[in-house]
Amino acid sequence: MGTDIDRLVEAAVAAREHAWADYSGFRVGAALVDENGNLHTGCNVENAAYPLGSCAEAGAISAMVAAGGTRIVAIAVAGGSDDVGICTPCGGCRQRISEFADDKTKIVARADDSGWTEFSIGELLPYSFRLL
Ligand code: THU
Repeated sequence: MGTDIDRLVEAAVAAREHAWADYSGFRVGAALVDENGNLHTGCNVENAAYPLGSCAEAGAISAMVAAGGTRIVAIAVAGGSDDVGICTPCGGCRQRISEFADDKTKIVARADDSGWTEFSIGELLPYSFRLL
């Protein structure tokens, strides 16, 4: 995996450290690069009122949009209970990513024990719902 992706994974792992996730104990960090080359990060933020919790990807995407970004070039997701382990984006976050992804968008996550893998949005969310 290229240096840029390695750096993105590092940023996702670093963002995971800030996860507010004592309710589930599952900490997630996300880092993405937008079309302007800017880096945006997020982590999951849980709440005592459980349904109010938000995913790491949602935080990173909100930060991107607030900064003026509209396309995800690459996004890394790092999650796990103890250390970073297996964690691919949840279904809702696949849809969130899809809104700002194209065929070239790289989605980097650990789907199994073989380590970090790059996926396309078409692989993770085929036949996705789009209005734009
Ligand atoms: N989580 C994420 O942040 N992103 C995902 O794609 C999977 C799930 C969070 C939500 C919740 O805080 C915790 O992981 C356990 O589901």
